Amino acid sequence: MSLNEKIQSISEAFLKDKNDFNSGLITFEELKNKYLSRKGLLSELYPLLNDIPDSDKPVFGKKINSVKNEISYEINQLIDDENSSSDSSFSIDSTMPGLDKLSGSIHPLTKIIEEIKSIFSRIGFSTIYGPEVDTDYYNFEALNIPKDHPARDMQDTFYIDKETLLRTHTSSSQIHFMEKNQPPIRVISPGRVYRNEDISVRSYCLFHQIEGLYIDKNVKFSDLKGTLDYFAKNLFGENVKTRFRPSYFPFTEPSAEMDVSCIFCNGKGCNICKYSGWLEILGCGMVDPEVFKFVNYDSDLWSGFAFGVGIERIAMLKYGVKDIRMFYSGDVQFLKQFKL
Ligand code: PHE
Repeated sequence: MSLNEKIQSISEAFLKDKNDFNSGLITFEELKNKYLSRKGLLSELYPLLNDIPDSDKPVFGKKINSVKNEISYEINQLIDDENSSSDSSFSIDSTMPGLDKLSGSIHPLTKIIEEIKSIFSRIGFSTIYGPEVDTDYYNFEALNIPKDHPARDMQDTFYIDKETLLRTHTSSSQIHFMEKNQPPIRVISPGRVYRNEDISVRSYCLFHQIEGLYIDKNVKFSDLKGTLDYFAKNLFGENVKTRFRPSYFPFTEPSAEMDVSCIFCNGKGCNICKYSGWLEILGCGMVDPEVFKFVNYDSDLWSGFAFGVGIERIAMLKYGVKDIRMFYSGDVQFLKQFKL
């Protein structure tokens, strides 16, 4: 085979090997070694120059160089292509099972809040929101809790400065709303509240409440009882019974706490209701006329009731959650139980 034919055959062999490389039959290393290494096909051509007449050497020397340049250029091109389409040498395995898609869930507290909103919206209550950072006036003063009133000890407050605080209850929303609106009023106001309490399975430094406020002409305690009994039955089931125990809040008079018959033992007595047959659910009462004075309502004309429900307590009862801290843990194992 003449030198010319040899050069030609190497060019042709390279075309075939390039195809084989593209179809994955040979590796990049094999291709490179075969043509470009010191013992590769191209290096083998140079000694053959010794066998041809001196006058032909420059021509053939050039020819060999140009084939070598072409092939090494093409080989480098192949590695560039491979890098840019990063994994093209690993073909896609379409039979591999796909990755599981993580779908979010509704936080249990949000679920309860939405449920309660919907129960009250059916009897004409709309939803309003108040600020979480508020002043002493809205959280205490205007709710008939003056500066040195012992009732302030009922709620350990996070103060930001002397006048500014994190609200300790959603009752502050009542004042904000009444200041800007005239009766009749039918609103609920859900949101976060904060108390500087020791953290345990039962209490946390923040929790959620839903406040309710109903003001109209001739609103009586029986309206409060009827409304909250409707609420309890819709939340826990038709068979649930309610009872009202006298209590004390500075902003309601009279004040009460509402219990529902234990949803676990139907009132027979179990360790969850501490064998009383009843579970305490909310605080409520008729709005104290003193509060009306702060928002310039005529208490001869208007009367009303208010209530405050603890959301965590309801969620713990309904979902059987034993530790209040789970609600704030962000624990996916816990949260994913609450699908839509
Ligand atoms: N704000 C009271 C609390 O946090 C609950 C309440 C609201 C009581 C409205 C009566 C009326 O304990």
